[in-house]
Amino acid sequence: MSRWTDGWVAGEVGDQRGRTAVVTGANTGIGFETATVLAAHGATVVLACRDAGRANAAAARIAGTVPDAAVDPLGLDLASLASVCQAADRIRSRYPRLDLLINNAGLMMPPFGRTEDGFERQFGTNHLGHFALTGRLLDRLLPTPGARIVTVSSLVHRGGRIDFDDLHFARRRYRRPAAYSQSKLANLMFTLELQRRLAAAAARPVALAAEPGLVPTELPRHTAAPARLAVWLLTRLAGQPDAATGALATLRAATDPRARGGEYYGPDGRLLRASGHPVRIEPSEAARDPEAQRRLWAESERLTGVTYRFGGPA
Ligand SMILES: NC(=O)c1ccc[n+]([C@@H]2O[C@H](COP(=O)([O-])OP(=O)(O)OC[C@H]3O[C@@H](n4cnc5c(N)ncnc54)[C@H](OP(=O)(O)O)[C@@H]3O)[C@@H](O)[C@H]2O)c1
Repeated sequence: MSRWTDGWVAGEVGDQRGRTAVVTGANTGIGFETATVLAAHGATVVLACRDAGRANAAAARIAGTVPDAAVDPLGLDLASLASVCQAADRIRSRYPRLDLLINNAGLMMPPFGRTEDGFERQFGTNHLGHFALTGRLLDRLLPTPGARIVTVSSLVHRGGRIDFDDLHFARRRYRRPAAYSQSKLANLMFTLELQRRLAAAAARPVALAAEPGLVPTELPRHTAAPARLAVWLLTRLAGQPDAATGALATLRAATDPRARGGEYYGPDGRLLRASGHPVRIEPSEAARDPEAQRRLWAESERLTGVTYRFGGPA
């Protein structure tokens, strides 16, 4: 494992003027901080959010701290393939090319539920929604030198298992943590397989992933009360101090000129890697399984109906 501790901070994000970034879940938490820093460095940032009102409020908050910010609020519900398609079409009509796609949005451990298309809610939103969005925006990323696709995974991917026989918990008992870690493992496997396919096609964009550590955000809002308390305690004891620090791994993966396709960034802290500055870390063995990555890709294409075209429009 290549690992270094060089105290990387947001001040190291380079000039982003002339670049366009799409950040999903940009209205709060890690996504909001990521969008704010990119806007502060001159990027035009599409705030792709589930709730249009929250997207507008986030745009106003960013404009309050970054007076000349170029932010573009946009509705995107990752739990609906129709909404993903509509949002991608809007982005494609407004922007001939994209530099950064930050697949950040996510929900953690809600009660059992299904997306509009019948997928288990966490797998459907966190993974399949982003799989469909990325595929539908690929033709805007392909022509851009230096384009990057960054997907936010989690330290819990390490305990995750993809159950290909029952991805949507139709037969096994629904366990909220198992579904969350399955979705976060899928985020990372998707990145590694996407990078392999981009490289094989000699395409310009690269795919990277990040895990933020334990970050005090609204993420535990859907969890049961005891789990919420445990997450809060663990985060207070061992986690990042705030969402801005939690955004650093994503920002490094998105902007560090030394970062390469297929790399995974996360905090350098010793305890669970829950806190610290972002460094290159190693995905779990399960995440690196190429056979499982290919299988997940095929299933994701089948379920979403989105086929990636590395040479033209989706
Ligand atoms: N916080 C942590 O400790 C931690 C640790 C590891 C990984 N992560 C990952 O970091 C990412 C950001 O999480 P966070 O901590 O910043 O949580 P957060 O504050 O709850 O933000 C999550 C964002 O995702 C959006 N979202 C949820 N469902 C969506 C949907 N169906 N369509 C579009 N957007 C949707 C939320 O929108 P609404 O506000 O409208 O619901 C919100 O903007 C997630 O992928 C999470 O898994 C977080």
